[in-house]
Amino acid sequence: MLVLGIESSCDETGIALVRAEGAALPVLLSHALHSQIEMHQAYGGVVPELASRDHIRRVLPLTQQVLAESGQRLADVDVVAYTRGPGLAGALLVGAGVACALGAALDKPVLGVHHLEGHLLSPFLSADPPEFPFVALLVSGGHTQLMRVDGVGRYEMLGETIDDAAGEAFDKSAKLMGLGYPGGPALSRLAEQGDPTAFKLPRPLLHSGNLDFSFAGLKTAVMTQAKKLGDDLELRKADLAASTQAAIVEVLWRKSITALQRTGLRRLVVAGGVGANKALRTQLNTVCAKAGVRVHYPELHLCTDNGAMIAMAGSMRLQSGLQAATRTYAFDVKPRWPLDSL
Ligand code: KG4
Ligand code: ZN
Repeated sequence: MLVLGIESSCDETGIALVRAEGAALPVLLSHALHSQIEMHQAYGGVVPELASRDHIRRVLPLTQQVLAESGQRLADVDVVAYTRGPGLAGALLVGAGVACALGAALDKPVLGVHHLEGHLLSPFLSADPPEFPFVALLVSGGHTQLMRVDGVGRYEMLGETIDDAAGEAFDKSAKLMGLGYPGGPALSRLAEQGDPTAFKLPRPLLHSGNLDFSFAGLKTAVMTQAKKLGDDLELRKADLAASTQAAIVEVLWRKSITALQRTGLRRLVVAGGVGANKALRTQLNTVCAKAGVRVHYPELHLCTDNGAMIAMAGSMRLQSGLQAATRTYAFDVKPRWPLDSL
């Protein structure tokens, strides 16, 4: 079964082809990505209307590229999987519209995929895939969640952010420091030259007794600190970046360890854009090794949004029998869509 995956939920157009045979883990044949970062940079963040228009321009050329690279023809595609949500409504509509049009033209079934399920299952594309059950730490620009995962589609929410997501905390703090968009990678690069203990920043909800997160207060604390520094901010920026990153990373690793202890599980899967953060990986590797927990990540280039994870999640849902692809080409998208409602 050849599955074409289309991702267009935010500022990346991702297309991929995955081959799924029987119950074996699906294999990625090829994938292509166009990032809109440069286009949105001038505005300091994603402009939804520009995002949608750019997806329209990119989807078909990227699909042709992926087909050519894998030596497949469009007619060989058995199922078209696309991101149905959550994400920007207009951006999602582009992927869903193209997927359903392709399906109708080829007389092939289509399948709407949950973007976060894509992130969650993306480590199955790595050289060291996890096994169920595991605790998942899902850390992206829009979500921060800890989940118990017993199988495909079997997700129990253990805790989530009550305000900003971890990626948002990176992005907003970076913006306050004048580091541009997207702030996460820029802030973490600068943090490498700074002292993570230089500034005392809050670790929100660290001792709340539950597995929820809150990052809005951290952003305010960073802003207060930046104002206090005034003209000295330039000189101390790396220290402030390192201290901000340390606060985010500490909350994430401590809550992950608590989730592992509470569930009694010995496997952690980290997914989503913030999963690319080096400091987070280093800390988690250290504490998980101590706790006798195996930790899995997606390949670095598959941490942020991509089509491979959508083709993968679609394939795994089909294989599990949880969902069938259908020849229903009247599509809708779900800009808001809780993962545990799947
Ligand atoms: O998963 P993703 O690509 O998109 C969403 O579904 O939201 O995540 C994007 C987020 C952004 O907030 C970005 O700043 C953050 O992931 N991010 C990072 C790093 N790379 C991406 N945050 C910290 N360190 C990084 N290396
Ligand atoms: Zn994402």
